[in-house]
Amino acid sequence: MKTYKILIAAIALTMGAATQAQTVRSLTVNASKLGAKIASTKYGIFFEDINYGADGGLYAEKIKNRSFEFPQPFMGWNTFGKVELRKDDPAFDKNPNYVRLTNPGHRERRTGLENEGFFGVSVKKDAEYRFKVTARTINGSASEKFKVQLINESNDVVNSTEINVTSTDWKPYEIVIKADQTIARGKLRIQFIGRGAVDMDHLSLFPVDTWKGRENGMRKDLAQALNDLHPGVFRFPGGCIVEGTDLASRYEWKNSIGPVENRPLNQNRWNYTFEDRNSADYFQTYGLGFYEYFLLSEDFGAEPLPILSCGLACQFQTNNESGRVPLKELQPYIDDALDLIEFANGDKTTKWGAIRASMGHEAPFNLKFIGIGNEQWDSVYPERLALFVQQIRAKYPKIQIIGSSGPDSEGKQFDYLWPEMKRLKVDLVDEHYYRNPQWFLSHADRYDKYDRKGPKVFAGEYACHVKGENKDKANSWEAALCEAAFLTGIERNADVVPMATYAPLFAHVDGWQWRPDLIWFDNLRSVRSVNWYIQQLYGIYKGSNVLPITENKKPLIGQNNLYASAVWDEKAREYIVKVANTGDSVQQLEITLTGLKKKETLAGGKVIWMHTDKLMQENTLDNPKAVLPKESDLTTEGNQVKIEIGAKTFAIYCIKKG
Ligand code: AHR
Repeated sequence: MKTYKILIAAIALTMGAATQAQTVRSLTVNASKLGAKIASTKYGIFFEDINYGADGGLYAEKIKNRSFEFPQPFMGWNTFGKVELRKDDPAFDKNPNYVRLTNPGHRERRTGLENEGFFGVSVKKDAEYRFKVTARTINGSASEKFKVQLINESNDVVNSTEINVTSTDWKPYEIVIKADQTIARGKLRIQFIGRGAVDMDHLSLFPVDTWKGRENGMRKDLAQALNDLHPGVFRFPGGCIVEGTDLASRYEWKNSIGPVENRPLNQNRWNYTFEDRNSADYFQTYGLGFYEYFLLSEDFGAEPLPILSCGLACQFQTNNESGRVPLKELQPYIDDALDLIEFANGDKTTKWGAIRASMGHEAPFNLKFIGIGNEQWDSVYPERLALFVQQIRAKYPKIQIIGSSGPDSEGKQFDYLWPEMKRLKVDLVDEHYYRNPQWFLSHADRYDKYDRKGPKVFAGEYACHVKGENKDKANSWEAALCEAAFLTGIERNADVVPMATYAPLFAHVDGWQWRPDLIWFDNLRSVRSVNWYIQQLYGIYKGSNVLPITENKKPLIGQNNLYASAVWDEKAREYIVKVANTGDSVQQLEITLTGLKKKETLAGGKVIWMHTDKLMQENTLDNPKAVLPKESDLTTEGNQVKIEIGAKTFAIYCIKKG
């Protein structure tokens, strides 16, 4: 450490702070000590259908209860005239309910139904929407007509198109509607205008312009926000949703593949958990199912990481015998895991590989990881996991198995489960921590002390929960900065932690039950939280190998409120140093690259930083750019960089090798 009047040779990062005599902290990056490889899976995505993340969120379907299969079959629908629910001779055996619309019997009367969508049906002016329905005429009628209408918030008909049903057999019909207005919270109306009657099922409305233009597609802005994270791993479908409120409502991947119209509905484990809403209208259509999850992983260049039920219902909700599959009855659950691996990796001559191929993906998805159980605890978990491990190892020795350390970051269950995971020789152990800022900062050295020989860590769910004056658990800059500081420890310990995923991912502003979340959205817009940017920066600048960064020969883990890590990026040929200054003062740093070979020089670079003075600042739908990364050039002097890092700032210094 030196004290001198600093020359701002490098970039002035500070927000108006005067340059003055200050302590300069000397950091050393030893370029010759190439450490652990950074796994391609290092930073990724945790996906769960919580906060309307899938149905009503990423999954671009605009019609709620499109198959009339909710326990209250007309939930989400308003009917008028002669509308009848039926299930005789259905179009889809796993979704048997359908509606019959009959002529009301008088020219002044109307028959039809309206869908309220997810917090309204939304469309954007001039964008195209594909309406689909499966329908038939009855009593031998050759043709029956109905209108499809977009209705705005003032109850005006914005678009109206007719469809002619021309067969007594169930057949799909579709039209593309170009919206004449932007509507945030409208309705879709079906008005019957035939002489007799018509049967209808699976009424669906999707934007044509989905992510990658797929018909059963994803909301483009939301998928783009995932893609832009540069994720290396994509965990799905949860979270507690994997386990279900009870065993019957666990996520069953086999129900989530095949023709979308015939994927049976499942209750959402988060259905009854809204503080401010009693309406239990949160279900899983499985329209976003395992096939779609695998496709998304492929789109993002991320390793797919499915998590399956281990035969225990969510232990927070049903922690008794009724939520536990007896060990001797566990085989179907284990088969689900084995069959999933075949679905992902088997060729088309295998039973499940053939189903994948029939869905349009002949090439295997190259699955490498599988998680068994989410947040489980007590001996009921390892007892079950052991049986999965035995059979997966025997049939698929290369697949890496992920076990759980329970819902807590430490404590009784954690201390019990970790040795159990070692005993069972799982490859990775999923750790979860939703903790406060102090915890994140004081645990930046968490993995420095971990056993290097045991299973690796998958930091599968984490987020910093801040207690704010006006709002708790906000996606605030304070939370993001603490996460950034903590992640320096995750980076430094790349040999122990090859995977980390922030959680949860999505939240609809009108229907959330958990915060903070990485990405918020309403029916038309989305916003990337400040936490999202931290994840993105780590994803982009993850590098290829860890390098030691020290001050006085010690790693920087909170001394003087500084947290740091360093990596070498083989592809970009640059040294990358990440520093979080969580303190209230501007700090002067001098980073020296030692261990450079003779004639090796540094050739400048760039700095990317994030900062705001307001710790509770969030990016919101109305102010999405409140805190964004900024970038400027960085000057090097010999083997040094001299920098000034502002208070409450996270910065990444990319230093080019000359
Ligand atoms: O991320 C939200 C929930 O937190 C997950 O479903 C669960 O695994 C954890 O308790």
